[in-house]
Amino acid sequence: MSLKIILIILIACPLALTGRKWTYNGLDGEHDWPTNYPFCGGAFQSPIDFQTHLLRYDPNLPPIQVQNYNLSTSEQLTLGNNGHSVQLSLPSHMYISSLPHRYSAAQLHFHWGSSNLLTGSEHTVNGKQFAGEMHVVHFNSDKYPNVSMAVDKHDGLAVLGVFIEIGEANPAFDKLFRFISGVKYRDQKIQVPAFNIRALLPDRLDQYYRYDGSLTTPPCYPSVLWTVFRKPVTISRKQFLALATALYASFAQDSPSMPLHENYRKSQLPDNRVVLVSFREGLHGILSVASPFHRRQVVQKLLVGDLADLADEGLYQLLPKLSLHTDTDKKLKRPKKQRHWSQATQKHQWSKNNVPSDNGYSSSVGKNIPTPWYMGALETGKGMCFVSLEEQVIHQLERYQAKGLMVEALREVVFPELNLRSYLHCRSDLDLQTIRQLIQGRSRDEAAELEQSLTKAMLRQMRRQIKRRRNPNIKTTMGHPQATVPKDYNLELAYHRPQHVEWED
Ligand SMILES: *[C@@H]1O[C@H](CO)[C@@H](O)[C@H](O)[C@H]1NC(C)=O
Ligand SMILES: *[C@@H]1O[C@H](CO)[C@@H](O)[C@H](O)[C@H]1NC(C)=O
Ligand SMILES: [Zn+2]
Repeated sequence: MSLKIILIILIACPLALTGRKWTYNGLDGEHDWPTNYPFCGGAFQSPIDFQTHLLRYDPNLPPIQVQNYNLSTSEQLTLGNNGHSVQLSLPSHMYISSLPHRYSAAQLHFHWGSSNLLTGSEHTVNGKQFAGEMHVVHFNSDKYPNVSMAVDKHDGLAVLGVFIEIGEANPAFDKLFRFISGVKYRDQKIQVPAFNIRALLPDRLDQYYRYDGSLTTPPCYPSVLWTVFRKPVTISRKQFLALATALYASFAQDSPSMPLHENYRKSQLPDNRVVLVSFREGLHGILSVASPFHRRQVVQKLLVGDLADLADEGLYQLLPKLSLHTDTDKKLKRPKKQRHWSQATQKHQWSKNNVPSDNGYSSSVGKNIPTPWYMGALETGKGMCFVSLEEQVIHQLERYQAKGLMVEALREVVFPELNLRSYLHCRSDLDLQTIRQLIQGRSRDEAAELEQSLTKAMLRQMRRQIKRRRNPNIKTTMGHPQATVPKDYNLELAYHRPQHVEWED
C-alpha cells in the first residue's frame, strides 16, 4: 500500500467520523453550510433577532424549573474542544421539569466574539448583540434514549440560551474557565470536577423568549425548542478574554494554528414564526397569543369546515398580521416553476382525501368532522424524522436531475408542516402559503369564497389601522389589537395584494 493511500485514509477519517468540514469563516463558512447540510438552508433556522414586533405575550408560559443542577464535586465531567466551541458534558440526571416532556441535560457550550470583537452572541434583541451566549442542551428523554437519537426529531431538543455581558466578574464561570488551557486544541478532552451548574444561569428563570428553531451549527436540524432568558449574566472582561483567546479550532499538530473565536451564526429569517415571551414589562402595546384551542378550530375549519364561517371576526385571529407580512410577499413572488414542483410533491401529503380512516383523534371541536390525518399525527406525537425527510427529498430530486434545488425544496417541504404545528401551539402565524396548502383539497368555489372573505377582512383591518393611526387612542373592540403600521408601509401595495394571490394553479 502506498504512502499516498495511507495519508488519504488518515486525512479522510476524522472528516468521515465528524461529518463534512464546516467553519464560521472563509470558503466553508456559513453561506456554504447548505451545500453539505441542506437543513441549514431550510425552514425554522436559529438564531434569530428578537424584534419587538415578533413578540407575543403568552400568559401561560411558566417559570423554567431545573432539577439536579447542583452537581456534587465528586462527579467528573468531560470538558472538550470540538473545533467549533468548548463543551462541557452534563449528566442526564440533570433535567428541565417545566416543559411538556422531561428534557434531560446533555452538554453546555459557548459562542463568543474575539479580543477585538466583544459581541459574539447568536440571538440578538432588536439588533443588539451581547458579548457571548451559553447554550445548555437537553434532549427529550421521555421519548428518546439519548441525544443522538433525539437530535433530528421535531420534539427532540430543548436548549436554554443565556446571554453573556461584560461587567462584574462571575466566580461560577471560573469553575469551568480555569481548565480551558487543558483543551487548547481541537479534539482535546479532560476530566474536570462538577459544580453547581445553576450558578451559570441568570437569577430569574421566569422571564424568557420562547420559539421553535434549529441547531445553530450543521446539520441545523429544526428540532430545538428554544428558551432564551431575558436577563444576561455578567462575566468580567478578563474572564471573557480567557475564553476568547485561549482556544484553537485546529489540531495540535496543525500549522499554522487557527484561533477558535467569532464562532456565532448570523441571524436567520423569522419564517412566519412569532416569539412567545413570558413577560410584558417594558414592552409597549405587545400582542397576546390566541389560545391553542381556538387555533385548532381555525385549522379544522380550513380543512373540512364551512369556510364562510371564517369570514369577519375569525379571520383576524387566523391571520394576525395579514396586511403587514413582508415574508408572505416574498413567498408569493417565488418563481412559478418551483411552486409547481413543490405542489406536485405535496399534493398527496395535504389532500384531505388521503386521510387514513383508522385515525384515533377525537376532538370536542365540532361534531361529524372527519379528522385530518396530520392532526392525529400531532396528537399522538408521531415523530417527524428530519433525516428521513431529507433522504426522501434527495431521492425525488435525483429523479428530476435537479440536485441544486435541494435547499429550496427542503424548505418548501418542511416549512408548511412545521409552520402548522408551530401555529397550533401559538408559536407561528399561519401564512397564506400554508392556507393554500390546507385548502388544496377543497372545491374551487369554496376557495374563491375564502379569498373574498380574506379580502373583506383585510380591507376592514386596514381601515381600522388607518383610523388608529389618525387617532392612536382608539381601543380595538376585538380584544386582540393589530400590530401598528410601519411608517414606510405602502398602502397601495397592500390594497391590491389579494388580486395577485393564486389559490389554484
Ligand atoms: C450545592 O450542594 C452542596 C453540597 O453538595 C451544598 O453545600 C451547597 O449549598 C448547594 N448549593 C446550592 C446553591 O444549593
Ligand atoms: C443511542 O441510542 C441508540 C438506540 O438505543 C443506540 O443505538 C446508540 O448507540 C446510542 N448512542 C449513544 C451515543 O449512546
Ligand atoms: Zn450553541
